[in-house]
Amino acid sequence: MAFPIVRHRRLRQNAAIRGLVRETVLTVDDFIQPIFITYGSGIKNEISSMPGVFHFSLDTLEEELKEIVELGISAVLLFGIPSEKDSVGSSGFDENGIVQEATRVIKSLYPDLLVVADTCLCEFTDHGHCGMVHTFERDGHVHGDVLNDESLELLTRTAVSQARAGADIIAPSNMMDGFVYAIRKGLDEAGFSHVPIMSYSVKYASAFYGPFREAADSAPQFGDRKTYQMDPANVLEAIREAESDVQEGADMLMVKPALAFMDVIRLLRDQFDLPLVAYNVSGEYSMVKAAAQQGWINERAIVTEMLLGMKRAGADIIITYFAKDMARWLRERN
Ligand code: PBG
Repeated sequence: MAFPIVRHRRLRQNAAIRGLVRETVLTVDDFIQPIFITYGSGIKNEISSMPGVFHFSLDTLEEELKEIVELGISAVLLFGIPSEKDSVGSSGFDENGIVQEATRVIKSLYPDLLVVADTCLCEFTDHGHCGMVHTFERDGHVHGDVLNDESLELLTRTAVSQARAGADIIAPSNMMDGFVYAIRKGLDEAGFSHVPIMSYSVKYASAFYGPFREAADSAPQFGDRKTYQMDPANVLEAIREAESDVQEGADMLMVKPALAFMDVIRLLRDQFDLPLVAYNVSGEYSMVKAAAQQGWINERAIVTEMLLGMKRAGADIIITYFAKDMARWLRERN
């Protein structure tokens, strides 16, 4: 060929033409903002490993919600830090638990703001596992098995109490087998057949949750989560996980974490027709923040590229600690 016949650069020559041919667009409708809620009053404490993310007490929540709503974000995901923990995570399914209280506060202030409740027990159990455990000592160390079917009952109670408090969407993240079916049945029987389940279908046992466990005080006190969360090496298993959730009645599927699992997002997009959620987790947030604080990267450009990547891979919805920032940046552009 004597000269380039195909000239890709024709469609890149200015911002207007690039805008016309752009394939993927982020909008504020894509995002869910996670919020951490704690007891006490007057609290707005920054989480040291997650600069820009705070613990709020119920009375300081209003200001934060106002900002979220004014930015046009339509949904928040709630995580609660209880005042007391026990072996079964009772404060998780207490009608007056922190997540239930926060839900009522949010729905009274902003009835249209969607409350997504993370349904898990790890923030509420003294051992930090996502369900009930059977513990035993061997060689001077505490070991434990996380009990599947016994945990389902507690998780179902948690979901029902969250729905009763006004949660619009139940997002179970515990990775017990059969959790979608159990929770669906529980919600239906309690009169909440209209409440959708956003299932953490494909949740890997990931080091990227490190900062979250500081934020939610939920690190396991013994062992790890590898007997219930997925092995990062596996992808066929992701199809099986998603398939069972679909059969059990999930309304939305999720892949978590997002950045290192873009192939899994794409695979689920191609194989399933339910709305797909990507969770841009705490470690992904903290890495960007740390490098940005050092002046090593351009935060806004990096975040935009990461979230575009998740959407391009097939995510319809992105849970991200950058939701407020991104909403602001999208506004500035217009
Ligand atoms: C609860 C839960 C976790 C996250 C969301 N829900 C922690 C975990 O599984 O250890 C992690 C979120 C994040 O890292 O941002 N099981």
